[in-house]
Amino acid sequence: MKWAALLGNPLGHTLSPLIHQAAFQQVGMEGTYIPIQVKEGYLEEVVTGLCFMENLLGFNVTVPFKEAIKRLMDFSSREVDLIGAVNTVKRGEDKLIGYNTDWSGFLAALDETWGTKWEGKRTLVLGGGGAARAVIYALYIRKATKILVATRSQVKGERLKEELPWSSLEVIPFQREAIERALNEADLLVNATPVGLKGEEMPFSLKSTKKEGMVMDLIYNPPITPLLREAKEQGLRYSNGLSMLLYQALEAFYIWTGKRPDPHPIKALLENWEKLQEQPKNLR
Ligand SMILES: NC(=O)c1ccc[n+]([C@@H]2O[C@H](COP(=O)([O-])OP(=O)(O)OC[C@H]3O[C@@H](n4cnc5c(N)ncnc54)[C@H](OP(=O)(O)O)[C@@H]3O)[C@@H](O)[C@H]2O)c1
Repeated sequence: MKWAALLGNPLGHTLSPLIHQAAFQQVGMEGTYIPIQVKEGYLEEVVTGLCFMENLLGFNVTVPFKEAIKRLMDFSSREVDLIGAVNTVKRGEDKLIGYNTDWSGFLAALDETWGTKWEGKRTLVLGGGGAARAVIYALYIRKATKILVATRSQVKGERLKEELPWSSLEVIPFQREAIERALNEADLLVNATPVGLKGEEMPFSLKSTKKEGMVMDLIYNPPITPLLREAKEQGLRYSNGLSMLLYQALEAFYIWTGKRPDPHPIKALLENWEKLQEQPKNLR
């Protein structure tokens, strides 16, 4: 039996095993996918151990290891070099190869939800971590005219600008006035922070957003964050991170197995899960 894994800490409730088990089943491969919560400070030891596991195809990497794992790779894709973060690792004979499928997962979700025409559009990305970097790259590929990035640390914002020089991004503070001013002009708002994972409200309102504005929250659990609830109330178009999760996972599956399962039945599984979340906990 082949297997793949997810390394992160904390892992919480992840839907990745559901997606990958369904993918293995669909392509007729005996395989499984296991979340591994890695004790902070021990990433290198865990990765070294995984290298010797001959039936391991590869693994995904999530918070907080996406940037730290880069230096443990023998080779990295061009996108990893540009974005500066790895979320998928393929185990070769005796080499580890780093990829980033967050950017292509986000792009596929964006295209599917709102189409491919982003040239001339103005965008605002909240957060400057691994997911934000992938989103910025995808928006750059789609030729968005302006990419504003709101970070709570000015130093980290400046570092992001230096590390992604190809993006021509502009950094603004993660503060109410600056964000609401930017929303006046933005066609698309993307939340790439964890704000909303535990039901937290954003420290700004969407009232100044254009009527035809779009809001994408990369969070998928809960399916409707307070940000998306407000987008709905304001009559804006909105979407959560479930499609991105699916497409980044299927790209990782392809890297590991060379096979591309049909996304539709797996999407239906995720939509069922989403519907279940809308029910009161005691009825699930
Ligand atoms: N749907 C998907 O497939 C998918 C894929 C990847 C990620 N995600 C989601 O995207 C989010 C970000 O993930 P990530 O991998 O980029 O995490 P990350 O590397 O830890 O980055 C998080 C970013 O959010 C900022 N941040 C954290 N708390 C904040 C707060 N209270 N106010 C303002 N900014 C805050 C951080 O700022 P500091 O640097 O100052 O701490 C950092 O810039 C997570 O919710 C994750 O679940 C979804």
